[in-house]
Amino acid sequence: MTTNIRAAVLRGVDQPFSFEDLVLDDIQPDEVLVKITSVGLCHTDLAVQHGDIPGAFPFVLGHEGAGVIEQVGAAVSGFAAGDAVALSFAACGHCRNCLAGREAYCVNFMALNFGGVRENGTTTLSDAEGNAVSGNFFGQSSFATHAIAAAKNVVKLPAGAPLEISGPLGCGIQTGAGTVLNSLAVPAGSSIVVTGTGAVGLSGIMGAKVAGATTIIAVDIIDERLEFAAKLGATHTINSKNEDPVARIMEITGGGVDYALDTTGVAPVIASLFQATAFGAKIALVGVPRPGSTLDLGLISAAGKTVVGAIEGDAIPQTFIPQLVALHQAGQFPFDQLVRTYPFDQIETAIADTASGKTVKAVLVMP
Ligand SMILES: NC(=O)c1ccc[n+]([C@@H]2O[C@H](COP(=O)([O-])OP(=O)(O)OC[C@H]3O[C@@H](n4cnc5c(N)ncnc54)[C@H](O)[C@@H]3O)[C@@H](O)[C@H]2O)c1
Ligand SMILES: [Zn+2]
Ligand SMILES: [Zn+2]
Repeated sequence: MTTNIRAAVLRGVDQPFSFEDLVLDDIQPDEVLVKITSVGLCHTDLAVQHGDIPGAFPFVLGHEGAGVIEQVGAAVSGFAAGDAVALSFAACGHCRNCLAGREAYCVNFMALNFGGVRENGTTTLSDAEGNAVSGNFFGQSSFATHAIAAAKNVVKLPAGAPLEISGPLGCGIQTGAGTVLNSLAVPAGSSIVVTGTGAVGLSGIMGAKVAGATTIIAVDIIDERLEFAAKLGATHTINSKNEDPVARIMEITGGGVDYALDTTGVAPVIASLFQATAFGAKIALVGVPRPGSTLDLGLISAAGKTVVGAIEGDAIPQTFIPQLVALHQAGQFPFDQLVRTYPFDQIETAIADTASGKTVKAVLVMP
């Protein structure tokens, strides 16, 4: 049975989101139908809106959905109607990287998360005239009142998890915390710098505190963000508009920092990390760069440093998201403090507030 839904549709690069009535296909045997409660706004949605990542327009974005399962496909086990869930990225489950347990590096990641169709090539969405609309964004397209997801990219939330704000655990928050805890595996007593203190960077800072890093340096160009970083665990903050971050990091660490996480994707910021890190340092890049961004190779060669381009914090969402919820419940991962909620139809206000720095993680709540 199809479902009539209301969705925010993006019809082209730099277009605003338009609210439209669409028809959502019947679920296939390996899928579930989720009534979306709320959905986070991630910078990656905006990267598609602005053409930094190619999109299959018209497209329903949204990839930090949380909600309640309404219907379960015949071949799905482990889920039932009424389950509270968070939706995460899609992976095929059968390529060499998925089989190795590295689903964030699924060989089919781009097709499954950005291609607009299911793995079998069918679309889940159509408009009032019956024209196909691209869906399946990150295996969900949750800027909508309902979404279809493959059971593989659905995570059952533990009892007591705050459903309304749990969607961002499926991307931005998981990415920041996971990059520090999984990809960099930051050990207790070490030093780390995080450039860009938006939702991903601040989650990285909370992750660094959980890991026991003792020097946690936050770099941004917005003072309010840096004040927030200090509240969440940064031991030092640098506004790189006002002071030279490399000199300051050298001074703080006495010769270079051990770990670095870049969430800006800005080439000169990344270059500064190569200058501010010590021999043996590990540098993780997660920010989406503007197409064509380049780096001077002289910064990398013979420096004895490791660079990792990390996706989704190397997380297995089904195990990592419950860990983050447990840390939240223990008072050690206060991700609720990042969130400001908006009614779904206020998506443009949410985008403007995120751009101005007023809001860190906007979560759109369905009517
Ligand atoms: N690799 C992944 O799996 C993955 C997952 C989620 C998000 N992302 C990407 O991570 C990035 C961060 O996402 P977000 O939601 O936190 O974005 P955001 O816009 O909330 O945060 C970015 C922060 O960087 C700061 N910044 C911008 N330019 C800067 C500069 N020159 N120097 C210092 N700070 C600067 C901004 O002020 C802002 O606070 C985005 O590019 C997003 O697309 C990647
Ligand atoms: Zn795969
Ligand atoms: Zn995202």
